[in-house]
Amino acid sequence: MSKNILILTGSPRQSGNSNIMAEFFMRAAESKGHTVKRIDCTRLHVGGCLACDTCYQNGKPCSVDEAFNSIADDILSADVLVFAMPVYWYTIPAQIKAVIDHLYCFCLREKEEYFGKQRALLACCEEHDPSVLDGVRIPFERMAALSKWEVIGEVLVPGVLHVGYITVTDGPARAAALADAL
Ligand SMILES: Cc1cc2nc3c(=O)[nH]c(=O)nc-3n(C[C@H](O)[C@H](O)[C@H](O)COP(=O)(O)O)c2cc1C
Repeated sequence: MSKNILILTGSPRQSGNSNIMAEFFMRAAESKGHTVKRIDCTRLHVGGCLACDTCYQNGKPCSVDEAFNSIADDILSADVLVFAMPVYWYTIPAQIKAVIDHLYCFCLREKEEYFGKQRALLACCEEHDPSVLDGVRIPFERMAALSKWEVIGEVLVPGVLHVGYITVTDGPARAAALADAL
């Protein structure tokens, strides 16, 4: 069955390591007949959630953040959400974290379409210790549990610093192989 896949990327480096993995996954998924859309969170300029709890009160998911509202339908209509990002200071980079924080509106208003999706995670970091990736992996695992998302896979690659380093790891191939799990 053809699926509707949304990739949210969180690196400002257009040709960076996490975006390379996202590209490999995207191409593999498209070759299997899935529809894939990619949104670069670093270009969206979504601000932080204000915790005003006025979500949907004026008919829009977020009452204040039009940048988030511009992608809200893409998120809700996706069968599969794929998150791709580097580790920044042992956790999720700010621009994609701002988007993630706004998912709160779907939880608060119990939007049925938000729950029960599939999700995958592609992440990388400079340090060689794989536990550095816990700062991204663990929040996403908890988020998946709360959101009732089925985890279809995670590609977590330590030891990559500069643009392109990922190409000498198995990260891109593993990202592409995730398309088999759809
Ligand atoms: C602001 C910033 C913070 C970073 N923090 C970490 C870190 O805490 N641990 C780590 O191993 N690498 C850290 N890095 C390195 C990146 O995770 C690494 O270069 C990664 O390959 C970047 O992925 P990208 O090419 O997809 O942007 C940091 C890089 C930047 C720019």
